Amino acid sequence: MDPAVSDDRDVVLIFDTTLRDGEQSPGATLNIQEKLEIARQLARLGVDIIEAGFPAASPGDLDAVRQIAESVGREPRIDKFGRAAPPPVITGLARASQNDIDAAWEAVKAADRPRIHTFLATSPIHMEHKLKMSPEQVVERVREMVGYARSLCPDIEFSPEDAGRSDPRFLYQVRAVAIEAGATTLNIPDTVGYTVPVEYGQLIRDIRENTPGAKNVVISCHCHNDLGLATANTLAGIENGARQVEVTINGIGERAGNTSLEEITMALYTRHQVYEVDTNITTQEIHRSSDMVSRYTGMVVQPNKAIVGANAFAHEAGIHQDGMLKHKRTYEIMDAGTIGLSQSKLVLGKHSGRHAFRVQLEQMGYRLDEKDLTEVFRRFKDLADKKKMVTDSDLQALIGDELYQPPEVWQVEDVQVNCGTTVIPTAVVRLRNVATGELFTDAGFGTGPVDAVYQGINRLVGVPNKLVEFVIQAIDQGMDAVGDVTIRIESEELVGTVERAQGGRGQRIFSGRGIDTDIVVASAKAYMQALNKLLAAKEERESVVALGV
Ligand code: KIV
Ligand code: ZN
Repeated sequence: MDPAVSDDRDVVLIFDTTLRDGEQSPGATLNIQEKLEIARQLARLGVDIIEAGFPAASPGDLDAVRQIAESVGREPRIDKFGRAAPPPVITGLARASQNDIDAAWEAVKAADRPRIHTFLATSPIHMEHKLKMSPEQVVERVREMVGYARSLCPDIEFSPEDAGRSDPRFLYQVRAVAIEAGATTLNIPDTVGYTVPVEYGQLIRDIRENTPGAKNVVISCHCHNDLGLATANTLAGIENGARQVEVTINGIGERAGNTSLEEITMALYTRHQVYEVDTNITTQEIHRSSDMVSRYTGMVVQPNKAIVGANAFAHEAGIHQDGMLKHKRTYEIMDAGTIGLSQSKLVLGKHSGRHAFRVQLEQMGYRLDEKDLTEVFRRFKDLADKKKMVTDSDLQALIGDELYQPPEVWQVEDVQVNCGTTVIPTAVVRLRNVATGELFTDAGFGTGPVDAVYQGINRLVGVPNKLVEFVIQAIDQGMDAVGDVTIRIESEELVGTVERAQGGRGQRIFSGRGIDTDIVVASAKAYMQALNKLLAAKEERESVVALGV
């Protein structure tokens, strides 16, 4: 057997928390369709464990985790060697309380391989000010709740929150109790991204050496990026014996984010001679996963982001281009193809038929039902009329834009603008109320054409908000490139039912994304999508308040 395929490989398990810690990034809220699609893609990517959400946070979160457990958590898959492999482990986060643990179990129990992930803070500052518990009470709660979780599920992960700022001797004690009570994975969260690599690596080593029973459990790293050290800390953890890493796609997460999946995977792959460990990740799926998560969360990837940024494989300087032409390896340590990034190519044109279109989508990993296929095919034909070369990136953007829209209250029906050097930019906007089908028209003026459109929309929708981010990108090169607009808006009132466990705040920032060959239309669609999310959250909050929950 090829030693690379052998089961004697020393494997670091990849625990993906894009749908839980990642979704806690301001404005990254995902709807159920988007969560399911991302979970499917994570399974294809080869992640070992999917943390699908925080079931006790809201009935919607519980339902999303349950649907992922019932679908992705039961579908066998093909691993990176082409062998049949079991579905990923599906886990849900729970505070160390019976209520949360019950909700997590309810959500994950349908999966073939369920896990409950429970946590309790162990740092002096968290115990004293947040939990208002003594260290002795914390130890007792861990014993009780890990034991309770274990009575429900055979696979239990325990996290001492803020381990990075906890007293190591207290950590040994808490962890020994967690193991005794039945934990099978022990995670070491650097919750506030405070540690540096030499410290975090040593912490992992000390825990392995000093915690009774630690040899029988998997030690896991969970790092935040507040000092830009999440990847370095996680690699230090692996060097010191951790065999599970908690990561997110594109490194999204609270504040400066979490360790990024693609950085860890490609560091272990490219520098195998240093770490001598393997992962189960199919690296060719990295780029597609990054693109999907960025599209659905509205979190744009910075161009110079390692591995998945738009410039990660681009060479601008003449001296670099010259070297690259002479020998590819002069300035490139990885092949773009390894992460699934091929040169965007002409895949279809306006004469392509439905069959060729379906085959192309299947090769890209999309299986659409007849209704969705018809809709996307119609959009493709419209696009092919405006743009000669429709590339795989265009198709991917179009699918995201067409199929995974949040529930719509309003739809953009028509936009007309008048702008130039000597006129005040004005816009006429026509919106459709989706529930009634009625059309409403109004006009606005502003500092530019996009602002004028937004003012017109505001007059019709009437929801106070502030635009906090506006990013416009071209999906491919060329004068006829498709415009891709991402925006974030902040609601002027608190909306949403989810009091996030970490920050204790409701959701206030909403993202929207729109694509079109006309950038003003793309901007209008993006704004409409963000406003629809805001309206849905407002309605959810109002119904919860009315029920007195
Ligand atoms: O950062 C953190 O401490 C967490 C835990 C809940 C694992 O996300
Ligand atoms: Zn975290």
